[in-house]
Formats: sequence, C-alpha cells, structure tokens
Amino acid sequence: MKVYLDNSATSWPKPEVVYQAVDRFAREIGANPGRSSYESALESGRVLLEARTLLAELFHAPNPSSIVLAFNATDALNMAIKGLLEPGDHVVTTSMEHNSVLRPLTGLARRGIIDFTIVPADNQGRIDPEQVAAAIKDNTRLIAVNHVSNVVGTIAPVKEIGQIARDRGVTFLVDAAQSAGNTVIDVQEMNIDILAFTGHKALLGFQGTGGLYLRPGIVLKPWREGGTGSLSELDTQPEFLPDRLEAGTHNAHGWAGVVAGIKYILAIGVEEINAQEWALTQRLLAGLAEIPKIQVYGPDSSVRRGPIVSFNISGADGGQVGYELAERYGIMTRTGLHCAPHAHKSLGTFPEGTVRLSLSHFTTEEEIDYTLKSLADLVSILT
Ligand code: ALA
Repeated sequence: MKVYLDNSATSWPKPEVVYQAVDRFAREIGANPGRSSYESALESGRVLLEARTLLAELFHAPNPSSIVLAFNATDALNMAIKGLLEPGDHVVTTSMEHNSVLRPLTGLARRGIIDFTIVPADNQGRIDPEQVAAAIKDNTRLIAVNHVSNVVGTIAPVKEIGQIARDRGVTFLVDAAQSAGNTVIDVQEMNIDILAFTGHKALLGFQGTGGLYLRPGIVLKPWREGGTGSLSELDTQPEFLPDRLEAGTHNAHGWAGVVAGIKYILAIGVEEINAQEWALTQRLLAGLAEIPKIQVYGPDSSVRRGPIVSFNISGADGGQVGYELAERYGIMTRTGLHCAPHAHKSLGTFPEGTVRLSLSHFTTEEEIDYTLKSLADLVSILT
C-alpha cells in the first residue's frame, strides 16, 4: 500500500477535474495570457481572470482586482514584506512562522533596514494576542502571523490579532499557506490586510502558483519588475494593480488547474472539507494516543487544528522513522524542522525536529488505520 501523508508540503493526488483542466489548457489553449489578442491568448487571459474571481469569492475579498498572482507562497510573502517595509520600520511576528517569513525579515534586519520582534508561542504552538499587542512599538509597520502551523496544525487567533492591528493602525499580514482551501478565511471579517496563499496545497492545484490578497488601499513597491503587456512604452513598472506586482509570464497552465481546484472546493464547501479533515485528524490522534512510546506535539487532541500531526518515537531518530515508514510500509511523511526552526524551539523539538503526518481531502480512514497499524509495528521494531 502507498499512503501519501505529506500534503502540507504539496497536496496529492489532485481532483480529476484539475488534471483535466491542465491537460486541456496545455493541448488546446497554451498561449501567453495578457499579451496578444488572438482567441487562445484571450482565453488564457480569461483563465487568470477566473482565478482572481474565484480566489476573491473563496477569501470573501471585495473584488477580483484585490488578488495578485505569484508563483508560490514564498514569492507572495517576499512581495508583501519587501514591498511594504521601509527603512526604520519594525515588524512583529511569531515563533510559528515558516522561513518564508523569518528569512526575508532576518535578511532585511541584517542589512540594517528594519528590526523585528518574535513573539514566542507556547509549547502547543499557541500565540497569545496580548503578547502581540505588547510587542507593538511606535514604528511597527507590520504584524505577520502564520494562520495554521505547518508543523503541528495549531490555528492562530487571527481575528483577534487582526483587531489589534486595526486598532493600532498596523498592517496585518497572514500566511495562509496551510489554510487556504481547507479553512474558512474571510479577509474582511478577520481584519486581514494582506493574505499570502499557495495554489499547490489545499487549493488542490499544481506547484508554481500562489499569490496575495491586498486590502484596497494597501500599496506595495514592486518586488519583481518587468514585462506586463501593458504600457510597454514606459521604462517603469505600471502603477496600477495587478500589473504593478505581476511582471513576467504567468504560470497559466497552473492557474487553469487552480481554477478547477477552487471550483471543486466551492462545490463541496470549505466548511465541509474542514469537518472531514478534522474527523480524520481526530481518528489519527486517538490512534496515536494508544501506541506506547509515541509523543504527539501541538494542541490537546480535543482542540481543533489543521490536518497536521507531528510526533516522535522515544528512543528512535525521527529521520530513521520517516525512512522506515517509507521503505517498510510505503507511508510518505516529512521529518526534521519543516523550514520552521523557531516553531520547533517553542514545541521543545529543536534541533531534532519531528515526524510529520499531513492529511488532505483525499486521505481515507483506511489509510489512517493502516498508518496507525504500521506505526505500532515500527515502534516494536525500533525500540
Ligand atoms: N512549507 C512546506 C512544508 O511545510 C513545504 O512542508
């Protein structure tokens, strides 16, 4: 049996309609969007417009022009962080962030451009909004928070932090890499100014797609400049969105897939997908609790989390556990620090890290039960 439990890295499989949409785009459309006026070029442009329209619907954004397309969440986060911050600015972030936030901030700080404060999570990955509020200074320009931890699935109190940001006049950036597509996100209700997302995880599309929601009025400096197919007589980037931030040829094939993925998600409903994934996660957590020598990290098992579970087997190396799971049982996981070293410090699992099981809409109860049985077997072999 093959069991894919690395959906937080990238989701697999995709819905059949996603494969079909990409295949159709590749065979029947193929043209560069937004550059020419023959029919297939226009059709390619319509795919991007449909992507913006569906993303706006999914995130309850006011209109499709508030969506900027990029190549992945890291690209989008760099666009937001480097496009917003000015010399002398201060940023508040958390220990649960991925390196896609921590490294751009550290790079800017090392060059003397900004400084930032990391609010520590507790050992379940929880952030206290009061600590975020207390870290705000007169020059704080940005609060950057991970919505759902890619290490343990802990859900951040985004709405409360968003209210604090709004009250204090600070821009609020949410990294929704693990939540866009499987968790209800309402950017208006949650006071989110900038939302970064990726297309290849819970949106069920392919790699090379991602982007930003920008609250109308948020102005970012272009981070990537170049051709847009608009105002080509100018040597400078157009001022208007999305062209201001979208230089270069889009991954139109990829967006055809994301369009199909979002339609698939909306037809089922994000709340329903979330409930299914939570039921599977609870089944996994309940089974893990029965296996001796397995320590599970993150929130209490009764507390709702994203479909992500990290554990270690006491007395066994996590890298070896991941290897044995793949080799002996065909179970695919991710081990180590998951590009989130400070999260592991908060959880008490640095520098060894954990073994991560991440589920998707396509994970089955049979796969969970097989994984639990395999883990019980592996514990008896390794310890
Ligand atoms: N950020 C992705 C993960 O957590 C790649 O695995």
